[in-house]
Amino acid sequence: MKKVFLFAVVLAIIIVSCARKSVPQTSTGTDAVTEVKAPVVEVTKFETSVKSLITTKCGPCHVPSAGGKKVALDNLQDAQKWADEIVKRIQMNPGDRGYMPFKNPKLSDEEIAVFKKWVKDGMN
Ligand code: HEC
Repeated sequence: MKKVFLFAVVLAIIIVSCARKSVPQTSTGTDAVTEVKAPVVEVTKFETSVKSLITTKCGPCHVPSAGGKKVALDNLQDAQKWADEIVKRIQMNPGDRGYMPFKNPKLSDEEIAVFKKWVKDGMN
């Protein structure tokens, strides 16, 4: 008779501990919702994104320090001044009048997007 009682007690402990474990699991659903973060939107800046494109794709012609004789575009002030013209010309096709980069392959969509984003972000 004692054994049956002991068995009942052990069984009761097992049932109670299992029931407790299931409690915190119901709250994990709400924790996951608070972890969702807003997407990080990076600002495109001249020094970090545009300048290297100009020196590699628009040089030497537009880079005076490299011997370029055309309008300088390798500094913020001049790039801002010519921004509209730059964005217009790099979207033309080779052979079009005014196409840039002159006598060179067209920039990739990603490279063109960098110039457009820089203008959209306020040309800093
Ligand atoms: C091989 C030399 C060469 C390269 C490379 C070149 N350009 Fe030019 N660029 C020229 C010449 C030549 C002109 C003047 C003729 C004209 O206006 O079409 C010019 C004119 C311009 C003008 C108008 C300035 C003015 O005097 O009216 C802009 C803006 C311009 N280029 C932007 C660019 C950009 C942006 C790139 C790079 C993506 C680039 N160019 C690459 C030779 C070059």
